Amino acid sequence: MRNKLIVGNWKMNLTLEESRRLTLDIRQGLTNLSEKAEVVVCPSFVHLANVHYQLPSSIKLGSQNVFWKGNGAYTGEISCDQILDLGCSYVIVGHSERRKNLKETDAMVNDKVLECLQKGLKPIICVGETKDEKEKGMTEEKVTQQVELALEGVKSKDVIGVTIAYEPIWAIGSSNSAEPSDAQIVISRIRDILENNYSEKESEIIRILYGGSVNPQNIASFVLEKDIDGVLVGGVSVKANEFVGIVKQVMKI
Ligand code: PGA
Repeated sequence: MRNKLIVGNWKMNLTLEESRRLTLDIRQGLTNLSEKAEVVVCPSFVHLANVHYQLPSSIKLGSQNVFWKGNGAYTGEISCDQILDLGCSYVIVGHSERRKNLKETDAMVNDKVLECLQKGLKPIICVGETKDEKEKGMTEEKVTQQVELALEGVKSKDVIGVTIAYEPIWAIGSSNSAEPSDAQIVISRIRDILENNYSEKESEIIRILYGGSVNPQNIASFVLEKDIDGVLVGGVSVKANEFVGIVKQVMKI
């Protein structure tokens, strides 16, 4: 049985003091975390160390990105070893904002996934269609391609370290989330891809999240869907009350 995963993506927000405050508020709000829910927060790189020292061990730390090389002359980049050193266990890889603004390709996402798995970090691979692709009925094709390219060369024994986040691009930051039943259809399709490319065993272990305008009002309807194993939360993850509220609702289900 997969337990639920709730990931807060703080994006490029908050000062050091604000991230300290938010961490303390989340910590105070989530003193009774049960095994039903695993919680991860992903601050900016520059705040990882501070957040790490303030987080209880029951809440995990993730970064929003990583580079695919071990070390060397890659000015401005950050390696898996460096974020492991700061206490990260998860990394968001291939977020649509990076694919769009930084021109991250599926090949780069694949390199990052391979490097993370080799180093023992758990990549959260983001996939999803644009509004235009949705309107053209291309959702399944786009998501299948992104999942397969991200996992190229990933072996069965390693793929269970991966999490996939289905994030329709049109739903991100829009206050217009997908219908939970529509997200369920895409997510069960992703599970089929995993079963076809690996086996039923792997497909039953790997968690698949939904992301895109998740809030305390709609969280329950997502996680009640059979294949939705949790959520990747952006905007409201920097509001302690709302993020804590989301986690508490997941624990009640
Ligand atoms: P949102 O962002 O919750 O603000 O829509 C989700 C994400 O970008 O991961």
